[in-house]
Parts: sequence; C-alpha cells; structure tokens
Amino acid sequence: MAEVTTFTLNGSTSSYKGNQSARLLDVLRDEYKLTGVKCGCKEGECGACAVIKDGKLINSCMVAMGSIAGSEITTIEGYKKTDRFAALDRAFAKTSAVQCGYCMPAMALAIECLLSENHAPSEEEIRRGISGNLCRCTGYNAIVKAAMLAAEESGELWQNSVKAAKAAFGFTPKNLDEALEIRAARNAIPYGGGTDLMIKADPDADYLFLENIEELKRVYEDLEFIHFSAGCTFSELLKNSLAPGILKEALKGIAAPAIRNFGTIGGNIANGSAKADSALVFIAADSKIKLQSVRGERVIPLKSFYLGRKRTALEKDEIATEVLMPKKWLNCCSYHKVGARKALAISRISFAGFFSVEKGKIAHNAVAFGAVEDVFIRRPDLDEMLLGLTLEEAKKAKPKYLKAYEDAINPTEGRVSASYRKAVCLNLLGEFIDSMLKREYS
Ligand SMILES: Cc1cc2nc3c(=O)[nH]c(=O)nc-3n(C[C@H](O)[C@H](O)[C@H](O)COP(=O)(O)OP(=O)(O)OC[C@H]3O[C@@H](n4cnc5c(N)ncnc54)[C@H](O)[C@@H]3O)c2cc1C
Ligand code: FES
Ligand code: FES
Repeated sequence: MAEVTTFTLNGSTSSYKGNQSARLLDVLRDEYKLTGVKCGCKEGECGACAVIKDGKLINSCMVAMGSIAGSEITTIEGYKKTDRFAALDRAFAKTSAVQCGYCMPAMALAIECLLSENHAPSEEEIRRGISGNLCRCTGYNAIVKAAMLAAEESGELWQNSVKAAKAAFGFTPKNLDEALEIRAARNAIPYGGGTDLMIKADPDADYLFLENIEELKRVYEDLEFIHFSAGCTFSELLKNSLAPGILKEALKGIAAPAIRNFGTIGGNIANGSAKADSALVFIAADSKIKLQSVRGERVIPLKSFYLGRKRTALEKDEIATEVLMPKKWLNCCSYHKVGARKALAISRISFAGFFSVEKGKIAHNAVAFGAVEDVFIRRPDLDEMLLGLTLEEAKKAKPKYLKAYEDAINPTEGRVSASYRKAVCLNLLGEFIDSMLKREYS
C-alpha cells in the first residue's frame, strides 16, 4: 500500500511516500535517520521506541505510517530543542539518573507527556507515567527523583506548554460512511489503535485507519444503555464520566500509558481474544455490539460475537461501531485481574461480576471469566441458581453453585496450568459471592 502520508515531524511538514503499513519506528530510524528513537522489542513492551504523537506518548513500533496522516510527531531530536528538555536534562544530571542511556530518549518523552498533563505529579503518578518504559540499569528511583526535581524547579515550563492540535487529512476515511464503503470495496483491515495489529506488522496489509472518524469516538446514554463507540481509546474512557467504575478499573490495569493512549475498545473486542480486559467487563454486563456495513447494521449480544479462539462473527465488510452496555445492574460489582506484574501484564485469569438484591432477594447475578478458555466464560444458566434466594438461602446454596462452575470450567493448558486456572477461578467466584452476601442492601 504506497500512498503519501503528510505529517509534521519535529515541527516541519513532511511527506512520506512509502508503504503505509510500515512501522513508524523503522521509518523514523531508517529513512529520517532519527536514531534517538531506539528499538528494543518491537512488541510494545519496552517503550524504548516511544515518541510523542499529538501530545500523547506512543510506542512507534506499534504504529503504521498510514495512521499518522495529519499528526504531529515529536522525537527526542525535536524535543531536545525545547526549554523543557533543558530543564529535564539538568535534573537528570543532578540526580545521576542516566547510566547507559539507551532508555533515556523515550524516558524523557514519557516524562514530558506526564508533566504536560500534570506539572506537579506525586511520586506514584510519576511511576505510573513511566511504567511502560523499561530501564535495565538504574532501578528507576533516580529517574523518578529527576522528574520530581524538574517539576519542582521548572514546573511552570510545562504549565505553559501547549499541546499540538490534531488535524485529520490524508487517505484515512473522514467519516463512517466512507469507511464502510472502503471496507466493502477493498476488504481493508480495520485499524483502531494498531496495538494488536502492529505486533505482527504486515507490510502488505491494506489497513483501514479508523482513528479520525468522529462517529467512532462518542459516548452517550439512553434509558437502557451506555453507548461506547468502538474507536474510544482506553485513556479517553478513563476520563469519561459515563464510564462505570468497574470498566475504569479494568482499563487502568491495561498495559501502560503509551498503549492506553491508542488502544481502543473496538480493537480489544474485535481481536477475539479471551484475555481482553475491557471486553470481559462488557461480557459480564451482558452488553451488545453494533456491527455496521454498507448493507446495514445489526446489534447482537456480545457473547455471541465470540465464535472460538480469536474467531469472531465480524463479516468481511463489517466494522464494529458501538458497544451497548446495559445500565440496570452496574451498582454492585467486582473486577479482578491476575497478572504477573503491575504494569504491562496480560491477564492470566480475569473475573468480573455484577450482583443485585431487591426486597431481600437476589435479583441479579452475572459473572464472567477471561483468559481461561478460548472464549470468555459467561454462564447465565449457572448464575440463575442464586436468583430469587434470600442472602441466607444463598449462603447455603453457595457450595452447589461453586460445584456447578467447577464442573463447567474447562481451562486451556498453557504457560499457566489448567488446574491453577480452575482453582483461581473458583477462589475468585467464592470471594465475589461472599463479599456480595456480606453487603448491606436497602
Ligand atoms: C505491550 C502491550 C500490552 C498490552 N496489554 C494489554 C492488557 O493488559 N489488556 C488487554 O486487554 N490488552 C492488552 N494489549 C492488547 C491491545 O492493546 C488491546 O487489545 C487493544 O484494545 C487493541 O486495540 P487497538 O485499537 O489497538 O486494536 P488494533 O490493533 O487496531 O486491532 C485489533 C483487531 O481488531 C480489529 N479492529 C479494530 N477496530 C475494529 C473495529 N472498529 N471494527 C472491527 N474490527 C476492528 C483489527 O482489524 C484487528 O483484528 C496489549 C498490547 C501490547 C502491545
Ligand atoms: S521497541 Fe519496545 S516498545 Fe517499541
Ligand atoms: S539507563 Fe540504561 S536502560 Fe536506562
């Protein structure tokens, strides 16, 4: 796919005439010779390749050239010319925060993005802000000190910094109708944030870049549902007041800022993975998904969208446009992700549950497990066992309920053993029921 991508690179307009599916990382290093952009893993894990796109940190290995049309890209070579870099550089020197230096260009840009949003961050906020940037040498403490020192001594520089506004143009479709037509005619692959697609970047792929489509960015509610458009990124939803707490809890645990800034809920669902964290919450809430094509639209239960391991019901000409989350049972709920570490951990097992008691009896009980089988586990037929029971009756029914799940769960064997997965599922379910039965209900 060779077209022209026009974008701003370190303040100057640039026209790239190569493959739109090439990685931004490779183009910056090989064609523009911007070797301050480092390569570590090409899987979005190390953060060494981070650059700033329209004011937000992004791993350039996870971005296809076609998705940056109209964007402003800043690499360390451009950032070095700012007063803010000079302040940060002084702070790095004073705290001896640099050892081999390999992680530092991206680390400086991560701190720039953090301080631009919050020019007086706490230590915890700094650690979260740089959680996607691995450093093999320093142990991070000196880097955190440097960021704090820069904020203390020169915070006003960031207070006054203005973020680049984003202008959309190029071959990327400008609205949903245009996107649906391209999808039907070219069978192009929908590209949300590219954070899954770019792991196995395919230079021959024909991507349909959805990022600039306003219709895919909305969140609104009606009497029954909260409607989340598929193009909403995790970071956008974390700031949205309509997103319920349980969804935000799941989103907070996804990867690190550079992934959350561009990963979308549409991509999280359409990748068909049973490890997807936002998708699990939508499944437990019995959400629906809207699929649109030039032929029209259909709204189906999200559960039936998943057909098997990474297989979905998405037709070749369809785009997922919206998730409809029922509002009725959102008050009493719980989410838990078991991962290997705090940041950048893919779920080993995940759990979400909703519960409700009305007039002393259980009116709603809906649980789902992720990362256990090829598709999410959601079994309303088992959850019904507790419906209509008083809390005392439910305590007695709990062992039978857990046994029903023990018989039903059939975990896949992988890095984590099947027996461990099943044991953790039953523990999470047991804890969920206990905590729900202990609550006061009016
Ligand atoms: C380092 C790293 C850490 C990660 N950590 C987590 C984690 O903790 N939890 C987690 O859940 N995920 C994680 N992910 C996976 C990924 O970030 C998410 O799945 C994300 O939601 C993908 O969204 P995207 O918009 O980037 O998808 P893309 O890569 O753009 O697309 C993914 C798939 O969905 C399709 N697609 C995208 N949008 C649409 C649409 N609107 N309609 C139809 N099809 C569409 C694409 O064609 C593709 O098949 C991680 C990824 C990386 C690289
Ligand atoms: S090279 Fe490691 S995140 Fe991009
Ligand atoms: S200073 Fe060496 S990797 Fe960070």
